[in-house]
Amino acid sequence: MSRLLECNGLSKNFGKLQAVANLDLTIAKGEIRGLIGPNGAGKTTVFNLLTGYYRPTGGKITFKGEDTTMLEPYQIAQKGLTRSFQQNFLFMQSTVLENTLTGFHMFCRAGAVKEFLHTRGAREFDRECREKALEIIDFMGLSPMKNELAGNLPHGHQRALGVSIAMACNPSLILLDEPVTGMNPTETEEMMTRIKNIRDRGITVVLVEHSMQLVMNICDRLTVLDYGQKIAEGLPEEIRRNPRVIEAYLGKEENSAAA
Ligand SMILES: Nc1ncnc2c1ncn2[C@@H]1O[C@H](COP(=O)(O)OP(=O)(O)O)[C@@H](O)[C@H]1O
Ligand SMILES: [Mg+2]
Repeated sequence: MSRLLECNGLSKNFGKLQAVANLDLTIAKGEIRGLIGPNGAGKTTVFNLLTGYYRPTGGKITFKGEDTTMLEPYQIAQKGLTRSFQQNFLFMQSTVLENTLTGFHMFCRAGAVKEFLHTRGAREFDRECREKALEIIDFMGLSPMKNELAGNLPHGHQRALGVSIAMACNPSLILLDEPVTGMNPTETEEMMTRIKNIRDRGITVVLVEHSMQLVMNICDRLTVLDYGQKIAEGLPEEIRRNPRVIEAYLGKEENSAAA
């Protein structure tokens, strides 16, 4: 399998705290990778580093063979690496369709949009964006509420909308940070199915979760962080039995390791 993303010696310090410590990580094209670990392990910080929201203290990030370590978030998104957007990012007074269209305009402007404008004109571009947005909305199961205000959606659908916006950027790698947090079991099941469908579209997925149980069935491989360090990596079955992983989880949380 070819390498899509690679980071070497990636580190991020906040003052004296080493939130991510010398992390080596390789993501293969087409996989669903779980990035797991107890709360505070550094998972979200890794996502912020990969997407350009934080500057690393050290190390290097390579995406599609290009060094992206010092690029801005919109440049990284244009190269095809994007993340789901959390609730606080949604425009609550705009519709599901309008929010999804934001995904195109936010990140694609400088690249794809300009190209389209030169060749085909603005109106046709708008129509194409709309069509694409509607297709993504349908894919994420949000068609029945495409004209509903984001603020009126139940929590589960708001999370799905956050993924739709990321999908609008036409990513080849999508990072999902605890996409099922706060969801009921039915919504969780639906989201897990959608994540598999995203991968089946040819999009590589990195999924952050702190519950090991949740990612066991859907991830091809798992990487485990604890205190910013990679403590294990492998097949879900191997990780489940890894004493170091069990200790990390049992030390801090109940129920998570006992899958
Ligand atoms: N912007 C920040 N400033 C200072 N400390 C931070 C910041 N972001 C994260 N941290 C700290 O870094 C550590 C890792 O946090 P985080 O990446 O959010 O963990 P996780 O997502 O695994 O729960 C935590 O100790 C957290 O308090
Ligand atoms: Mg987090």
